[in-house]
Amino acid sequence: LVDGWRTARQAGPVRYDEQQKLWQVVDHESVAAVLADPAAYSSDFSGLAPTQPDFETFRQGNFVGMDPPAHRKLRTLVSQAFTPRVVAGLEPRIHAVTTELLDAVEDRDRFDVVDALAYPLPIIVIAELLGVPAGDRALFQEWAATLFGGDEIGSSLDMADVERALESIAPTVREMNGYLLDHIRHHRKNPGEGLTGRLVRAEVDGVRLTDQEIVGFVALLLVAGHITTTALLGNALLSLDQYPDEAALLRADPGRLPDVIEEVLRWLPPFPELGRRTTREVQLAGRTLPADSVVMANLAAANRDPARFARPDDFDVTRSPNPHLTFGHGIHFCFGAPLARLEARIALRLVLERFPEIAVACRSEVEIQNPAVIVSVRRLPLEVR
Ligand code: HEM
Repeated sequence: LVDGWRTARQAGPVRYDEQQKLWQVVDHESVAAVLADPAAYSSDFSGLAPTQPDFETFRQGNFVGMDPPAHRKLRTLVSQAFTPRVVAGLEPRIHAVTTELLDAVEDRDRFDVVDALAYPLPIIVIAELLGVPAGDRALFQEWAATLFGGDEIGSSLDMADVERALESIAPTVREMNGYLLDHIRHHRKNPGEGLTGRLVRAEVDGVRLTDQEIVGFVALLLVAGHITTTALLGNALLSLDQYPDEAALLRADPGRLPDVIEEVLRWLPPFPELGRRTTREVQLAGRTLPADSVVMANLAAANRDPARFARPDDFDVTRSPNPHLTFGHGIHFCFGAPLARLEARIALRLVLERFPEIAVACRSEVEIQNPAVIVSVRRLPLEVR
């Protein structure tokens, strides 16, 4: 995996991949240039992907797949509801939920940290943020498992495979749509102070979010905000195990944790690649890309570009500055980055405080999930003391 990112640049910053029929962009400057220019590099693939009625609802509020001006309208509206204050206000709950999850494994000297903490924490936080009754948390976990548990989604660009994968998750999507629509209608009548109430009330120039747009946004939160944070937590503990000298620096000075998290994000980006589609013929790093080309912006390779990072293949928790592209760049820059960073800071601090000694129990049991789509450990058994 890492070798692939390291060697990707050897063929030049931009190259055409005959097999996959798409353009690979691998250097930091070109990746940033692609992401900074939505007029030339669109995020909207809706014309290319097969349509499936159950997914149409999601598309409406799913602004990660939109271009300006639709993107701006939705992002501005949801920004009113999902403010930095709302995120900062989650701190006590993230602390309490992490403590509860760690208490559940307190008497064990070996446990899978993905099952115990990295997987449930972000989904519980999102469910609580939305004001979903605690009893329905399990439902959210089930949906997440169906939507991202398998390897089929995103593992192939072949349209027949994409259609088959969409078909297999359609019943779950239908159930989610129905549940979320009821949830939103309830909050239309009783908005309350939670995120759903704020989404219902948000207004810019007399424009409000429709029910369908809120469902789509909530689905986006579930997709973008769950597995990525699970990945970050697992990747952090894996990296600290692999680099004990760096882990010792953190143990000696816990104040380094934010920098450690940034280095983990650079080192193992949960989303290694972002797709774009050219809207016209473009020039990039001396190459000419025709209109309607698929472009893969390889964040993972850009994060190891020696033109931007000294000793890029060293995991170095003292790295500063650290201009990684793991949260993207430009108008689609990750909307949940402050929440992801907050969850990681609290969860990792509490894990390190509770267990003075942590080791990956059995390296052969560490499994990386479908790495072209998401770089995340599926299982990470830890031995703790
Ligand atoms: C967008 C990564 C956590 C919500 C993005 C993008 C990336 C990303 C790369 C840009 C996509 C693009 O340009 O096509 C990550 C990583 C995370 C994380 C690595 C954790 C380590 C979260 C969380 C939330 C979230 C916790 C919400 C609770 C979003 C949303 C967008 C987004 C709504 C779309 C923004 C837009 O299109 O304007 N994320 N994300 N993400 N992320 Fe995250």
